[in-house]
Amino acid sequence: MPQSHTLALRNAEIPRLGLGTWKLQGLFCTQSVSKALEIGYRHIDTAQIYENESEVGQAIAESGIRRSEIFLTTKIWIDNVATGAAQKSVEESLRKLKTDYVDLLLLHWPVKSIPLHKQIRALQTIQDWGMTKMIGVSNYPTALLQKIIDDTDAEIVCNQVEYHPFLNQKPVLDFTQRHNMFVTAYCPLARGLVRSNPTLLNIAGHHGKSAGQVALRWLIQQDNVVAIPKAENPLHIDDNYHIFDFELSKEEMAEISALAHPEGRIVNPEWSPKWDEENSTSQAA
Ligand SMILES: NC(=O)c1ccc[n+]([C@@H]2O[C@H](COP(=O)([O-])OP(=O)(O)OC[C@H]3O[C@@H](n4cnc5c(N)ncnc54)[C@H](OP(=O)(O)O)[C@@H]3O)[C@@H](O)[C@H]2O)c1
Repeated sequence: MPQSHTLALRNAEIPRLGLGTWKLQGLFCTQSVSKALEIGYRHIDTAQIYENESEVGQAIAESGIRRSEIFLTTKIWIDNVATGAAQKSVEESLRKLKTDYVDLLLLHWPVKSIPLHKQIRALQTIQDWGMTKMIGVSNYPTALLQKIIDDTDAEIVCNQVEYHPFLNQKPVLDFTQRHNMFVTAYCPLARGLVRSNPTLLNIAGHHGKSAGQVALRWLIQQDNVVAIPKAENPLHIDDNYHIFDFELSKEEMAEISALAHPEGRIVNPEWSPKWDEENSTSQAA
């Protein structure tokens, strides 16, 4: 069954594959985003902390593609939440991105110094002002997602988390699916680690694909999951886009899910929250 390029959720169409832009700077960033848009990507992920919103905005402006056809995400950095400067920081982001709105605005990480309902209220205000279509969070475990639901009336649509075959994210996935939210999978290629995995290489061989394409396909073939691989190499940008013309069987999906292990997490800075899956290993497809 061919997979749609977009995920339909809450009256929105979210492209299942986007370009991640962390570490893309200056001309490399503009060129990579331009290349991605030329190939057919319509989803770009950036963040205030990446310091490349101007370059992302420039590439989008120069692409000639209507703004409404591109799904653009940015994230408010921790400092701007902690100092109460969230709204002002988003005005600055939009100026750099050369647009009136983003499609999705996320809190980049949980922040403990400000009550959660106040952080969410700030997001809602920004949404009410029309500066973002949808709001969400990133790096939120299920306990904090539940707190948002309990303490606020916000329509949080997305949780962007690390997700690839080596990391179990079943609790977060189950939660988001139950609440009509989606997961954006970051580090979907496990920063390149997927490339040499024997199971992925074996499955890739059966489909005439690369191990990376299989990992991305495994992600987007799951309910309510979209993926944002980062690539600077034009060949990689192209390779990652060609995941809509094959399908993994139920058995292959399960085999890949079984690759998760307790040391699978790559991104775990000192300000990380208590994650959900610390004691679990493999995950169901
Ligand atoms: N919310 C958060 O806290 C958070 C945290 C981390 C990341 N993110 C987002 O998620 C995006 C993706 O995560 P990531 O950049 O950390 O890791 P990733 O996408 O898993 O891996 C990127 C690495 O894989 C390589 N690569 C890409 N396509 C390839 C291919 N087809 N064949 C071989 N190698 C390939 C890239 O090389 P080249 O660049 O040389 O092509 C790069 O070194 C980020 O860019 C960012 O937008 C969000």
